[in-house]
Amino acid sequence: MNIAIIGAGNVGGALGRSWTKAGHRVIYGVRDQQAEKTKVLLAATGDDAVAASPAEAVQAAEWVALATPWNATESAVRSVGADAWRGKAVIDCTNPLQFTPGVGLELALGFSDSGAENVARWATGATVVKAFNTYGWENFADARYPNAAGLRPVMFIASDDAVAKMQVTRLAEELGFEGFDAGGLRAARELEPLALIWIRSAMSGARTPHFTWARLTR
Ligand SMILES: NC(=O)c1ccc[n+]([C@@H]2O[C@H](COP(=O)([O-])OP(=O)(O)OC[C@H]3O[C@@H](n4cnc5c(N)ncnc54)[C@H](OP(=O)(O)O)[C@@H]3O)[C@@H](O)[C@H]2O)c1
Repeated sequence: MNIAIIGAGNVGGALGRSWTKAGHRVIYGVRDQQAEKTKVLLAATGDDAVAASPAEAVQAAEWVALATPWNATESAVRSVGADAWRGKAVIDCTNPLQFTPGVGLELALGFSDSGAENVARWATGATVVKAFNTYGWENFADARYPNAAGLRPVMFIASDDAVAKMQVTRLAEELGFEGFDAGGLRAARELEPLALIWIRSAMSGARTPHFTWARLTR
């Protein structure tokens, strides 16, 4: 699969490296293709990963992972061009977070809307899938948990498009996750706050980013 990654930072880089290892071709959509950090990223990703402008990357791929800071996400989506998103499938990994003095990190929106639904409105004609937002990037770089007694970490996946949801399930499984169907895109309203639980847990107590949720059944 050709996968464009817009937002080639912690999350985009981890997904790019992992999907490349799984055999996909990654096209990083970056604002400065000559920047030293872009060269480092390409060297770390290996194989035939390339860097292009965000618009070129989206044009070259059927799948686009969006991993930009929330306050840059609308402009990143719009910078690609109004018609460029038609027919594309977008994995929205962003979280609509803001830092409020006296409060700390909190959601910039919620209850009656979600970041993912905003992305769907901005990326006209695209199919949007919410996934890869509830854990830190370290878990996308390496989803092995030797003490998990065979349990796999779950990847919550929300979309109104059943086929796209299945494809993202496969992309998550290739990285070691078990897909968890969270419902339609509206369920992003629940998945985005879940990311805050993970962030607060990672920043307190044992202070490790290497943990995820798993499904226990009987
Ligand atoms: N950090 C995590 O572990 C984690 C986990 C799950 C979800 N998330 C969510 O994923 C998103 C990215 O987080 P991150 O930690 O990966 O951020 P990050 O390391 O700061 O990377 C963000 C990337 O976005 C790029 N970018 C910014 N504005 C852009 C634009 N207009 N067009 C194209 N690229 C642009 C930046 O590139 P430049 O060098 O050009 O500025 C940078 O490479 C956030 O919404 C976050 O809430 C984060």
